[in-house]
Amino acid sequence: MTTVSTRITNELLSQLNEEIAVQLVSQVPLVGEVARYTIDSGGKRLRPILLLLSAGSLGCKDRRAVQLAAAIEFVHTATLLHDDVVDSSTVRRGKQTANERFGNAAAVLVGDFLYSRAFQIMVDVGESRVFRIMADATNDISEGEVLQLSNVKNVDLTVDSYFEMIRSKTARLFEAAAMLGGIVAGGEHGVISDFGKYGAHIGTAFQIVDDILDYDGSEGEIGKKLGDDLAEGKITLPMIHALEHGSSEDVAKIRAAIFADGAADLDSVVDIFRRLDSLEYSRRLAKLEINSAENIISSLPKSPYKDCMVELAANSLSRIS
Ligand code: IPE
Ligand code: IPE
Ligand code: MG
Ligand code: MG
Repeated sequence: MTTVSTRITNELLSQLNEEIAVQLVSQVPLVGEVARYTIDSGGKRLRPILLLLSAGSLGCKDRRAVQLAAAIEFVHTATLLHDDVVDSSTVRRGKQTANERFGNAAAVLVGDFLYSRAFQIMVDVGESRVFRIMADATNDISEGEVLQLSNVKNVDLTVDSYFEMIRSKTARLFEAAAMLGGIVAGGEHGVISDFGKYGAHIGTAFQIVDDILDYDGSEGEIGKKLGDDLAEGKITLPMIHALEHGSSEDVAKIRAAIFADGAADLDSVVDIFRRLDSLEYSRRLAKLEINSAENIISSLPKSPYKDCMVELAANSLSRIS
């Protein structure tokens, strides 16, 4: 049976994909090839959907919302193209990453193309608050990625610093997407700000879940390689918990895995995480973020779009429950 939420989401997705195809034009064949290879490879389109649902919940069906949604997906795709080069990742969405297939140079340059294309679309939309939000968000995302780079193999990373990092590198784009939906719909200041908070909580939960799945998922399910974070020396929430709560023997094993040059011993690290409930602890913190997101939008007037927003929040957790 097709639920109302599925129908709404499918309709929004088809408008979005049409807009993406219109906007993805370049005189240079390699740009189109790399960009389409990545954009058409099965991303979940969470951020543009968030934007379109926020706009829809305020009754807006303006084409400008769809244009901005395409711009948000371009920014997201650009960050992934760059992130996969930085992380030396070889698999995404169950396929070779663009850097693996076309080389680092093409991936970085097409990432730049998509970033700037997104800003061209925003110029077409012509709303100054949109520029402000996206200029700030993309700046924070870059800083978040650099902050993460500075913390590679930093076994003293705290939970607070981890949250600061993921709020910048991931939650900011969710926050911006939801706010843009509110702006294009002509929402009141308070509603736009609530949308932003709702998006930020979902984005934070989403990154925690992603970090759990890097240890606890299956490659088929996540479309990425398991254990990438450990191999890169990336310190994420389950790791911080285990380093804080493990015995000295556990900590020594985890440190050895983080500093290992070749393939790290993923299985023994996961065993330690399970024994210490580090994954469960991380799930609890992700759940708290989702509860906050749901509380924030509970005051929106009843509508099928609001129902979709509630579902979207719950679904960010369902990958792990
Ligand atoms: C991947 O985001 C990057 C993270 C923030 C973890 P998504 O999982 O939303 O990526 P796609 O677009 O659906 O592949
Ligand atoms: C997310 O970080 C990337 C950005 C937000 C730019 P990750 O490095 O954890 O994402 P995946 O695991 O590669 O998708
Ligand atoms: Mg990565
Ligand atoms: Mg990850």
